[in-house]
Amino acid sequence: MFQTEDKYLSLRNLTVCYGALEAVKDVSFEVPAGKIVSLLGANGSGKSTILKAISGLKKPAGGEIWFQGSRIDGEPTHAIMRKGIVHVPEGRGLFPYMTVFENLQMGAFSRKSAKKQEIERDLEEIYEHFPILKERRSSQAKTLSGGEAEMLALARGLMAKPKLLLLDEPLQGLSPVLIEEVANIITMLNQRGITILMVEHNISMSFELSQWVYILETGELALQGKPQELSQTDYVQQYYLGVT
Ligand SMILES: Nc1ncnc2c1ncn2[C@@H]1O[C@H](COP(=O)(O)OP(=O)(O)OP(=O)(O)O)[C@@H](O)[C@H]1O
Ligand SMILES: [Mg+2]
Repeated sequence: MFQTEDKYLSLRNLTVCYGALEAVKDVSFEVPAGKIVSLLGANGSGKSTILKAISGLKKPAGGEIWFQGSRIDGEPTHAIMRKGIVHVPEGRGLFPYMTVFENLQMGAFSRKSAKKQEIERDLEEIYEHFPILKERRSSQAKTLSGGEAEMLALARGLMAKPKLLLLDEPLQGLSPVLIEEVANIITMLNQRGITILMVEHNISMSFELSQWVYILETGELALQGKPQELSQTDYVQQYYLGVT
């Protein structure tokens, strides 16, 4: 698919189990530097599990995960995060009783060597991109609307200075206007050099945003390709676009 030198994140025969259940079976794929790649599939097909395996939240049962030339599976989450992989989980994973500001500060937690002024500068930049977060900086995260919470989840991820962002359903529960807004932010982050691996149920948006798409079916890779090519296949027409 991509040239070898493009291999940035690479999954090799990844298998992940919950007890006897093989949630991810022998999956191999690549995410090249600088791209937006989407991972699609029905509920329970193993998408979130793959993101958890990459960020170290779930230990694989087999296979390997490589990032920028080093093997990362089996490493603890904080070590993987320090390498530049940041996971924005399904449901956003905010700290509900902490303020917006405190949640953003938590995002910078992995940057132990960063100076206080450097973090403050990044915070100012975040507030420029997300003025609503500046306005609400003293509010508890639980009081934010769905769209605001999504902005905060993304912004908190950015405070960790990611090279690779793993986004689990960033558009979930957002109104059409906010979907556009968050989609624009995702594009902007990518243009600023952040590689993105995104899980979504919004197929039209993921096709629009990504350069490559993988489709999972009950834990196995069923199909992959460029969005414009995939949308022509019977599989996608039938299962995703409802064309019979
Ligand atoms: N902590 C867990 N313990 C046991 N089984 C789990 C656990 N988490 C996920 N599973 C199972 O693993 C499979 C894959 O789940 P996963 O969350 O990766 O799916 P998904 O593709 O992200 O689905 P969705 O689109 O609904 O978010 C499912 O069968 C699910 O029930
Ligand atoms: Mg999921």
